[in-house]
Amino acid sequence: MAVIFSGIQPSGELTLGNYLGALRNFLEFQDEHECYYCIVNQHAITVPQDPKELFANTRKLAALYLAVGLDSKKSTLFVQSEVPEHVKLGWVMITSSYVGELERMTQYKDKSQKQGDSIPAGLLVYPPLMAADILLYQTKYVPVGEDQTQHMELTRNLAQRFNRLYGEVFTVPEIYLGKGGARVMSLQEPTKKMSKSDDNQMATIRLLDDADTIAKKIKRAQTDSLNHVHYDKENQPGISNLMGIYQAITKDSLEAIEAKYEGKGYGAFKGDVAELLVDTLQPIQARYNELKDSSELDVILDQGAQKAHEVAAKTYRKVELAMGLHRK
Ligand code: AMP
Ligand code: TRP
Repeated sequence: MAVIFSGIQPSGELTLGNYLGALRNFLEFQDEHECYYCIVNQHAITVPQDPKELFANTRKLAALYLAVGLDSKKSTLFVQSEVPEHVKLGWVMITSSYVGELERMTQYKDKSQKQGDSIPAGLLVYPPLMAADILLYQTKYVPVGEDQTQHMELTRNLAQRFNRLYGEVFTVPEIYLGKGGARVMSLQEPTKKMSKSDDNQMATIRLLDDADTIAKKIKRAQTDSLNHVHYDKENQPGISNLMGIYQAITKDSLEAIEAKYEGKGYGAFKGDVAELLVDTLQPIQARYNELKDSSELDVILDQGAQKAHEVAAKTYRKVELAMGLHRK
């Protein structure tokens, strides 16, 4: 049994991209591995958050994790700020990092660019906190999207650096890029990834969108004037994105999809994509609604934090002992 760890920030409502690219892949591990899934609210505050929204989004995300099929008997689901070892080891990882290597992170460069001369320091030290999340559980595999490759390389470097200096304390983790690399693109600008922070509501399908909204968004999705259901990311990025979504859900091959819609045009295809999405998301939404205000959710998160704390405390104790950061 290998240890699996992943985290998602409770910022903004989850999209179809988060589901097909991340959440759904998490489920594959839970039967055979020791899994930890963390709601990383302390990462979320590296940019300003509205307190009410952060609180609500944390619960929402927890309910969604469970609604998509995460089984709390098999996986440990918890909120980062409830397990204090994350910031404790986070500090150790910050002190093990070089400013230069942190400044080279592309996510830092992207996010700090828009901040003028008041760049929050949290953006710079975001990756060492992510390293701490992962290393506390002696994680072997981290299922995340491609965009996290650089952070994962840094995490490996920090683990190796620590082990070299203080002895073998950490397992050196590896990134796990899901097969098929489901990368869902924006419905309005299909050369850009679908992002939960996109201001254009028509660009994203939210996991909690109702049937009419989904139908409307798919109907208005950008396509081209060829009216030929054909996979060509270069010349038909919009229709290719819809085909990618269709494929990710049905597992049909692209050729089979092309054959099925030969001579049928975009209207029929879009109608079917919308229907597929509604059929996929409706059961998730029903379960989500049952869970979101339930005491069951709190019980699961309480137990998750307790279990995570037990494991994290063991690793952190080794760190203290190795570094002389203890008193007894
Ligand atoms: P984010 O929404 O950027 O915090 O990402 C949370 C997780 O969802 C990460 O593992 C991402 O790689 C994944 N993800 C986000 N957007 C997409 C997308 N459009 N397609 C596929 N995966 C995505
Ligand atoms: N940086 C990740 C993202 O933006 C979120 C994250 C924080 C994470 N800590 C993690 C992912 C630990 C995996 C493991 O998607």
